[in-house]
Amino acid sequence: MVRSPLHLRLRESTAAAHEHLENLVGELTDLAAYKRYLSGIYAFRQPIEVAWADSGWPPRFGGWRPTMIASAMDRDLADLGLARPRPEQPHLDTDFAARLGTLYVLEGSSLGAKLLLRNVRMLGLAEDFGARHLSLQANADTWRSYLRLLEQDDEADPDAVIAAANETFAVAARAFTD
Ligand code: HEM
Repeated sequence: MVRSPLHLRLRESTAAAHEHLENLVGELTDLAAYKRYLSGIYAFRQPIEVAWADSGWPPRFGGWRPTMIASAMDRDLADLGLARPRPEQPHLDTDFAARLGTLYVLEGSSLGAKLLLRNVRMLGLAEDFGARHLSLQANADTWRSYLRLLEQDDEADPDAVIAAANETFAVAARAFTD
């Protein structure tokens, strides 16, 4: 894959944050670990997705929409008999550049989801039980179209996009530690 300069910068500037998050999540080798992961990812993403659904999409996104997984996570929690976490709304900027940065984290996580889905199949989880959200992400095709959006946009301030991506990784890390 040929990476655009902004994608490369995003990747490099968030590599440490990604590694930190991976360490927090750890290996999903038993159901207890997966349950912690599911509660953490729900606490991180659900408020962001709800806020976006409420506020609508800036016209600059055209008809493009990200892969939303809130309802699939809801059903996964129910499958496993887990209560819904009650996270607070994170304070993330909402302008176009910031949204591109937050989207980098949400959309990019679909790459890791493919790997996680393979691992948790061994725990008896699948697209119709417990791992619905991972399956949605693993089969989504919005990562590539997100990267095209990123490439085409020459108006968003790259530093603002990168700052928002790191801020979003920090929100995720808090969700996994709380
Ligand atoms: C144990 C948990 C995780 C594992 C094992 C993992 C693994 C991976 C892998 C294998 C990739 C693909 C790298 C490549 O193709 O070069 C990736 C990419 C990515 N992951 Fe994760 N990931 C995990 C958790 C997360 C979480 C929770 C998030 C966000 C909340 C996240 C965000 C991203 C992003 C943004 C990318 C895209 C990097 C790029 O620009 O290519 N990951 N991850």
